[in-house]
Amino acid sequence: MSQKRILVTGAVGQIGSELTMELRRRYGNDNVVATGRKTAPSDELKDSGPFKFIDVSDIESVAETVKEYNIGTIHHLAAILSAVGEANPVLAWRVNITGLFNVLEVAREHGCAVMTPSSIGAFGPTTPLDNTPQVTIQRPTSMYGVTKVAGELLCDYYHSRFGVDTRGLRYPGIISNVTLPGGGTTDYAVEIYYEAIKNGTYTCPLGAGTFLDMMYMPDAVDAAIDLMEADPDKLTARNAYNVSAMAFDPEKLAAEIRKHIPGFTMDYDVDEMKQGIANSWPNSMDDSSAREDWGWNPKFGLPEMTEDMLKVLGAKHEKGEL
Ligand code: SER
Repeated sequence: MSQKRILVTGAVGQIGSELTMELRRRYGNDNVVATGRKTAPSDELKDSGPFKFIDVSDIESVAETVKEYNIGTIHHLAAILSAVGEANPVLAWRVNITGLFNVLEVAREHGCAVMTPSSIGAFGPTTPLDNTPQVTIQRPTSMYGVTKVAGELLCDYYHSRFGVDTRGLRYPGIISNVTLPGGGTTDYAVEIYYEAIKNGTYTCPLGAGTFLDMMYMPDAVDAAIDLMEADPDKLTARNAYNVSAMAFDPEKLAAEIRKHIPGFTMDYDVDEMKQGIANSWPNSMDDSSAREDWGWNPKFGLPEMTEDMLKVLGAKHEKGEL
């Protein structure tokens, strides 16, 4: 049989756009099929390998793609983020739950492995918010969180009931400089760098003292690939693993940026909806299970990430690309 390929849903999104290119570098351009729902892919994504428009809430379009390309692994990233999900809970349910359910059903039928992100959003106000354990109370209060917990349980179920090779990550806020995030609570930690470079000032929608877990994109991409490469016998969690690389609040982030741009200023215009969501999420997670089971070991902390973000965005700004 010919080599099994990798499918990425949500490939035009913040994580998908970078994960797809790294998967193509590692496994070969033609072996990684990128899919999106409506946003046009970048030239890089479209020209470097197969690209298709599919809607994950339509199971036929998922099944056809898996058959057409002989897919063995699905990185299922198509999802609605927390702030958009709160504004449109029906859409969040359709994409995050029906979409994942369809992917798992197709995976069951065709013997595919599935990686899908959960989130810090899978926790809630009754969760221990400091050093949040791998296994703990999960009663989120946002629709996004509800879909993430249900999604984790679906992954567990498909693994124990049908033997589907499900693997997941509870991603924190992801900071990147290729594709902007699409409407999450942690987006401020990306926007602040863009605004620091463009205008030297930023108005923050989350208040001082709002600590959240975060991660730089290269580590997020490595986490997804390393988890799928891990020895299945070592995996103790089939719902999703806590993974974090740093935790900070807006003040700490602004202070780090000021080490490079001394005149940078920040004020606050708190978005009550986002603040409410952020308050219900962990301040910092315990990711020791991921470290023990499959060697999770992030490379970027806040200083390294800030230096790289400002270098990359500064170069883009000089070329008129921001
Ligand atoms: N970055 C995501 C959000 O804010 C967290 O999973 O929605």
